[in-house]
Amino acid sequence: MKTPDSSTHSRILILDFGSQYTQVIARRIRECQVYSEIVRFDTPVSEIAAAKPNGLILSGGPASVYDKGAPQIDPEIFSLGIPVLGICYGLMLMAHHLGGQVVFTGRREYGPGTLHIKNGSELFNGLGSHLDVWNSHGDEVTALPKCFRAVGTTEGCDFAAVEDPQRKLYGLQFHPEVAHTPRGKEILQNFVYHICHCAMDWTMGSFIEEACARVRKQVGDQKVVLGLSGGVDSSVTAALLHKAIGDQLTCIFVNNGLLRAREEEIVQRVFGENFHVRLKYVDASERFLALLKGVTDPETKRKLIGNEFINVFQQATEDLLEEDRRNAARRHGGYKFLAQGTLYPDVIESVSIGGNPAQVIKSHHNVGGLPEKMHFELVEPVRQLFKDEVRQAGLQLGLPKEIVYRQPFPGPGLAVRILGEVTLERLSILREADTIVQSEMEAADWYYKVWQSFAVLLPVQSVGVMGDQRTYENTAALRIVESQDGMTADWVRIPYELLARISNRISNEVKGVNRVVFDISSKPPSTIEWE
Ligand code: XMP
Repeated sequence: MKTPDSSTHSRILILDFGSQYTQVIARRIRECQVYSEIVRFDTPVSEIAAAKPNGLILSGGPASVYDKGAPQIDPEIFSLGIPVLGICYGLMLMAHHLGGQVVFTGRREYGPGTLHIKNGSELFNGLGSHLDVWNSHGDEVTALPKCFRAVGTTEGCDFAAVEDPQRKLYGLQFHPEVAHTPRGKEILQNFVYHICHCAMDWTMGSFIEEACARVRKQVGDQKVVLGLSGGVDSSVTAALLHKAIGDQLTCIFVNNGLLRAREEEIVQRVFGENFHVRLKYVDASERFLALLKGVTDPETKRKLIGNEFINVFQQATEDLLEEDRRNAARRHGGYKFLAQGTLYPDVIESVSIGGNPAQVIKSHHNVGGLPEKMHFELVEPVRQLFKDEVRQAGLQLGLPKEIVYRQPFPGPGLAVRILGEVTLERLSILREADTIVQSEMEAADWYYKVWQSFAVLLPVQSVGVMGDQRTYENTAALRIVESQDGMTADWVRIPYELLARISNRISNEVKGVNRVVFDISSKPPSTIEWE
């Protein structure tokens, strides 16, 4: 378990039993300005005690406590003297282990309900006599452990909220963390502030200061290199490191020839001119294009681009060393550290209950492989943050909105949005179409409302008519999706007028495209990118 070394923070540990909502619980707690961290359900009690949390939350999970192989808990947890809140499966486990009775009802109660509050629990302080709550459970508590009492009931269940205030053990059958329990956040606030006595000390300002101090401690006076892609994560990492270690940081920005229009200009302007970060710009577009000549298979494209990125990056680092050697003012010695914009969701060890580990559907290249190949030590200053927290940090560090709120862009760039061979001509067609999509989405105030909006160039030609001329040109597809994390997605119901404007402009202004189609597939079964 990796906890931040500033142990002065209040903190809540969330034991993950595989619920789809575990990360939502962590987010909700952090919204209360209290640091929270997710750990596996089987983290040894000694480790949990050593982390000195102010409170523990046991997440929900898909299992029944009676399932073979259901994730268990060491009951020692309930004797640590640390307040515990069990949510759904967490409550079932608590009741099961402390001598209550849990039955498997055989049906899953799913959906809204009303909680009737009684007995004046601290958990529901200020919340009145009844609450709308959201249920999703199969097991049910039918008899309470000794010393417990019911503090909330629903139509079908006498023990929907229970507590043993002496031992500070609390359980909820419903989910306070989801939006469908509208006042759930107040329940969590009561738990963290009044039961666990957490201070509101998790703020972006304090995070940035502490992260800077950690980085300084880790790297000392050594040099750090960072692959800047222009995406949110690497940009915030760069801004944070720049604040922490100034010119000990060098960013390498590789133009692989597969970028959107003006991308290299934006990144150089923001980082080189505004931030005065030492930025090495490497134009490797010809190398990448030469490599991709004749290649049409999506996975081959991705692999080639990923490997070439490593080669280019390695070469750039060697060039930097050479420059440093020639420049008396610069610090000598190698680049020992590689900085990466790893985020918290990439770090959480996922718990898979009764399922298989997620399969690799597409190989995602970014800087994967670099640390091993070049013996770098990693610096990951934002690995504790969720995406929206990274954005907050970016704004606080002074990054412009156009960087902080930009849509994700895949590492292999436009290559995976050009189906078939990637050529200069096709890149230029797609760039023009992409620029139109982006500017119309921005003008209509839709750009920041969706997860991604972009054009894809298809290897399909069709007949059209322009003036009196018959045309036989390319097809562009529009992909506009909403998503929480890119894992699942749905197409956005964009107003027809906006679709019409984008379509008209692309077919009128982009030479080489005479037909525009709109992709109405969700993920799954489709993916967001077409390759
Ligand atoms: P898919 O196409 O797998 O995409 O549904 C899910 C999200 O991931 C982005 N994506 C990538 N991001 N390197 C990245 O950094 C990649 O190789 C890559 N491939 C896809 C995609 O844009 C979407 O947001």
